[in-house]
Amino acid sequence: MNKQNGFALATWTSFIAESQIRALLRYKVKYYFAGGKPGVIPTDAFAEILAHLSELYKENPELAIEDLNYGPTGGQPWFLKTLARRLHDVRNLPIDPETEWENVTITNGSQQALYALLDTLIDTGDVIITPSPSYLGFLVPAVKLGARIVTVPTDLDGIIPEYVERAIHLSKVKFGRTPDMLYVVPDSDNPKGTTLPMSRRQALFDICETHNVLLVEDCAYAEIQFKKTLPAIKTLDKENSRVAYLGTTSKEAAVLRVGYSVLPPAIKEQVLKDKGYLDLCTSTLVQRVLDEYYSKYIDDAMKRSVPEYYKRYKAMAKAIDESFPAGERTDPTGGFFIWWESEKKDFDSKKFMMDVAIPNDVIYVPGGPFYPLTGYSLNEDGTDLVDSKVQPNTMRLGFSYADEEEIEVGVTRLGQLLTKELG
Ligand SMILES: Cc1ncc(COP(=O)(O)O)c(C=O)c1O
Repeated sequence: MNKQNGFALATWTSFIAESQIRALLRYKVKYYFAGGKPGVIPTDAFAEILAHLSELYKENPELAIEDLNYGPTGGQPWFLKTLARRLHDVRNLPIDPETEWENVTITNGSQQALYALLDTLIDTGDVIITPSPSYLGFLVPAVKLGARIVTVPTDLDGIIPEYVERAIHLSKVKFGRTPDMLYVVPDSDNPKGTTLPMSRRQALFDICETHNVLLVEDCAYAEIQFKKTLPAIKTLDKENSRVAYLGTTSKEAAVLRVGYSVLPPAIKEQVLKDKGYLDLCTSTLVQRVLDEYYSKYIDDAMKRSVPEYYKRYKAMAKAIDESFPAGERTDPTGGFFIWWESEKKDFDSKKFMMDVAIPNDVIYVPGGPFYPLTGYSLNEDGTDLVDSKVQPNTMRLGFSYADEEEIEVGVTRLGQLLTKELG
């Protein structure tokens, strides 16, 4: 219990802080490289869609009444069919859009799907394996719900399957439990920006099959790929029994708060039960808008947005390479983020951001929140689990929101400030 001004708040309120990325939104700075905000939104497409719907609703008030009303918790069938078609045609998921569209479900953002999945699978003490570092929007709710997080080393190709196998073994030995899930963002990961090669996708799938672990595949950035998009791990899951596939409209359409997922049936049923209590349903009007977008506009919109994100990535990579002090950066082939690590292990990127970067009008996300508040990681030789530690000398730089020129000026300014600090 957490007593505050006479109120007996739930225990978690005393150890879970506000999302550090949300908190950073309060700072109004000129050079914004913090949250993963899309900066290229097809506003013209949405203006057309809204104009079309305005006419349609005038002509057909009955449709308007339906669209402005409560709907099924998992989404409207017409929208689920549209999403199933895209998942089949573009992502090659083993889903028949005509007969298996009910395998698709929507949530209020994929964030809600992550939360509901955790809520559905995790009892206190259950084990989850994640890459180190990992998306904080997954880590924090997992810790809140009492999971033991075991973080596994990553390299420039993402999580290393051999260590995942070791982590599963050690979890059995140390906690007497097989992990409930493995969480990965295979395409242009958040926060590191790395992409899992096909061999690792296959290896992770096989490991999860062997040990009966749910593989949560968060494909938030799968549509934002600069060169080629690799097949989703879900394509290996022909029976829809091993992989929870999560997509989101936030990055490829607009932040209308709709995520879409394909979940093994037993899990889907419980996730929907949970969602029914969390929000009853997702707005039908929003589904109508997105149905139009996914049916008629997305291909053209992505043809415009992906090259623009690519330009921004190139501007950021160049500015880092030309102005940052000694360290290492990742080289993403899509998505929104570059991860940078200073050579100086004791560099505190959060303190530096508060004391130096923000007063100079630049903001990023310090690496700290991408490591779990409490949890375990493999030791150096992978033979034991030790308390996980934050790597304070890291930062995530988002190239999605600022334009090329702002990136060039802002990242160079940051590099000069870092060079002054670190030599
Ligand atoms: C990897 C990842 N998963 C999920 C989300 C949540 O996205 P949304 O709730 O907007 O669908 C984000 C948002 O930044 C993300 O980066």
